Amino acid sequence: MSRSPTVLILGASGNTGSRIARLLLAEVPEARVVAAGRRSAPLEALAGQLGERCTPLSVDASSRASMEAALRDVDLLVAASSTSEFVDVAIEACLATGTDYLDIQLSAEKVARLFAASDLFEAADLCAITDAGFHPGVPAALIRYGAERVPGAFRAQVSSVIQIDWRGLEIVSETAREMVREFADYDSKHLVEGSWRSMSWTGRGSPRFDFGPPWGEQVCVPMFLEELRPLPQMYPQLTSCGFYVGGFDPITDYLVIPLVLVGMKLLPGLLEGPLARLLCWSLRRGSRPPFGTLLRLEVQSEREQLVLQLGHEDGYDLTAIPVAAWLLQWADGSRPLGVSTMAQAVEPARLLGDLQRMGVRVSPPMEDSPPSPDGTAQPPRSDPAPGAGG
Ligand SMILES: NC(=O)c1ccc[n+]([C@@H]2O[C@H](COP(=O)([O-])OP(=O)(O)OC[C@H]3O[C@@H](n4cnc5c(N)ncnc54)[C@H](OP(=O)(O)O)[C@@H]3O)[C@@H](O)[C@H]2O)c1
Repeated sequence: MSRSPTVLILGASGNTGSRIARLLLAEVPEARVVAAGRRSAPLEALAGQLGERCTPLSVDASSRASMEAALRDVDLLVAASSTSEFVDVAIEACLATGTDYLDIQLSAEKVARLFAASDLFEAADLCAITDAGFHPGVPAALIRYGAERVPGAFRAQVSSVIQIDWRGLEIVSETAREMVREFADYDSKHLVEGSWRSMSWTGRGSPRFDFGPPWGEQVCVPMFLEELRPLPQMYPQLTSCGFYVGGFDPITDYLVIPLVLVGMKLLPGLLEGPLARLLCWSLRRGSRPPFGTLLRLEVQSEREQLVLQLGHEDGYDLTAIPVAAWLLQWADGSRPLGVSTMAQAVEPARLLGDLQRMGVRVSPPMEDSPPSPDGTAQPPRSDPAPGAGG
């Protein structure tokens, strides 16, 4: 891929898409962005801010004709829109126009449909990346990073705190509906003693992780992500691993989310809209500082442990920055053909160095160590495991 790609960002007026557009133009000076979505006014306003390398375009993700027309002369489609239900249209349009693909949505059905089309992407010499962002997107990349640096690691877990100030955010109704479908899709599998197990419905036995002040210790529940699936085959000694998320606020966690889960099981067609509005109301009502989003990696072997924490005060920046960091690798020619998750496609050490450079707090910082001969950032030192000899 050349360093002067044209990238169409679907959902460019959205919370995440606008940040990806801004970062891509800053990070890849020769790149051009087509800022796409249905409403032209916010896209024109964005293009006005971002300058001549950004062109606004009205596109509807549900229409194959609209998508195909938009993707002519485009190198990559970035689906940063709440349009996972139209993934088939995106797949067909990318294959028909010879366009690489990337999405940031969380949807088991979307992932299944993409992987079913992997041979078609490969035969067309195209790279399709799914589940980009921070979660999904970063957890399995962190585990790969840790498992390579801690030989014999038997446990590698990534936990997360997500405290967003929902009160100031505009969330389009499709995004709110997609959020309740994501909850309905929730899969609590994590790897325990070598086998994938689901959490009990009471949540009993959920682990606690200490995120340090001001967050402290938090109970987190396991959340399966497609990017985790290959890890036991990649690292056979790894018998415990998973991704774990903390809660929002007590009313959302213990009242609204259970209502969403039950409602989406019983009458999804009828209740999706009202439940989406209820969820947004509850998230806004429960928004309390401190705000911030964290990812914490803990890796353990018999002899040592490695802990690494990533943080940003803005959860949408923490979503867009990993996408931009991957796009740098893509623009440099890293284009696995067929379908891959971002966390499996990305080179983890370079990802971490770029995240830090783009404003993610990495603790301990990557620059503590000298750069490696190949120019990638060096890992933080791992410490002897408590009680480990030697
Ligand atoms: N991987 C991660 O870490 C991560 C983190 C956060 C969010 N996400 C996902 O990212 C996606 C976007 O989230 P967000 O919060 O940024 O959403 P948002 O601010 O509500 O923006 C959604 C965007 O999608 C566009 N859109 C909706 N339907 C469309 C259609 N039919 N055709 C074209 N564009 C359409 C909207 O523009 P118009 O209304 O003008 O069309 C809008 O620009 C969601 O799927 C969310 O789940 C992923």
